[in-house]
Amino acid sequence: MKLVDESGRFPEAVETWPSVLITREEIAREVERLADAPAPANGRRTASIVHPLAQAPGLGLAPGIDVHIDVLKPGESVRVSRSNSTAVGTCIRGYGAARIGPSGFGIEMHDVWNVPSMHPVFYENSGSDLLVRLTFSNRPMLEKLMVFYGEEADDARISDAWFKAVADNVPEGPRAKDNAPIVAICGGAFLMPYEHLVDPDTVENRALHWPWSVVEPQLKAVRGIGEGYTGRRLYILYNPATERRNGTTHSFFASIAAYPGDVVDRPHRHSSAAINYWFGGSGRSTVSGEKLHWKAGDLMLSAPGWAVHNHASGSEGFHALTIQDHPLMIAAESLIWQETMKDQIRNLGTQIGFQTNISELV
Ligand SMILES: [Fe+2]
Repeated sequence: MKLVDESGRFPEAVETWPSVLITREEIAREVERLADAPAPANGRRTASIVHPLAQAPGLGLAPGIDVHIDVLKPGESVRVSRSNSTAVGTCIRGYGAARIGPSGFGIEMHDVWNVPSMHPVFYENSGSDLLVRLTFSNRPMLEKLMVFYGEEADDARISDAWFKAVADNVPEGPRAKDNAPIVAICGGAFLMPYEHLVDPDTVENRALHWPWSVVEPQLKAVRGIGEGYTGRRLYILYNPATERRNGTTHSFFASIAAYPGDVVDRPHRHSSAAINYWFGGSGRSTVSGEKLHWKAGDLMLSAPGWAVHNHASGSEGFHALTIQDHPLMIAAESLIWQETMKDQIRNLGTQIGFQTNISELV
C-alpha cells in the first residue's frame, strides 16, 4: 500500500495515443502468414493488431478496443468458445458460416454481426477461398480491470451450459425481489435490498446479422444527403438490446459510412475512441494535427479518445466501418463531445445533443 498526496492538484487529461494506420498490404501479408502456418489445435489462426504504445494487460489498437485478424482455410473451423467480452465481427475475404448462441448465418464480404457476452461462438470456412474476418472486442478493458473470462471447450459442454442458462431465465413463480420492496426515503433517493442487487432486470441480447447485400442499397439514403450537410453520412448498425445507448454491442457501435467524393467533415472530438476499416474508395484524415492518407482495405485508429479529428473523402468517395466505444461511454455517463471546436462540451446521454441541418436537406 502507498498513499499519494494529491492535495492542491486536480487531475489532468491524459495524453491520447497517436493515430496509427495499418495498410491493406500489411493485413494481406499477415493473412498469408497465418494461412501458411500449421493449423493450431483449436483451429484459431489469429493475430492481434496492437498499438505500439499499448501495455499489458489489455493489449489493443485503442486502449479499450482490440482488433484481431482471424483466418480459416477452406474446410477449417474453430473450437467453440465463449467469454464475457462482446465483439463486432466483419468478413473481409471469402465465405463462411457463424453460429453464435441460437443464431446461425452465412457470412460474406462486408457483412457485420455482433457477438453477445457468454454466447457459444463457432465459425467455419464453407467456401473455397480463405475466410478472413476482423473481430473488434472490448477484451482490453476487461483485461485492464482484470475480469476477463473466457473458455474453449467441447461444443456440447459450452452449448449445453448456454441453453440451460436460457431455460433457467424463465422465472418460476415470484422472484425473491418481489418480497423485498425498494424503500423511498428523501429527495428522490431510495434504499434497495440485496435481492435486487443479485437479480437485476434482464434485456435479451442475441447475435444479429447485417448482410452487406441488404445494407448496401440502404446507404444511398445517407450518401445522397445534399451538399452542406453538417452531420456524418452513416448508419449505426443498431441492436435494440442496447436501448438508448445506440450500440451494436453494449460497448461499441459499428457504423457504416457512405460518402460521395470531395466531402470534408468538420474537426470534432469525443471521449469515445474510434477505429475505422476503410473498405471502399480513399481519402485523408487529420488526427491531432497529423495527416494520414488511406485507401480501401486499410485499418486505422481514426479517433483516439478526445483527439481532434476529421475525415475527407477522395474524389470517388469512400465506405467505412467504424467501431466506437460510444455505448460504453454513455453507460458510464462519460461521453463528452464537441461537434465543432467552437461548440460547448456536452455530456451526451444526459444533455440534449447536437442538431444537424437535416431538416433543410430532406
Ligand atoms: Fe469522430
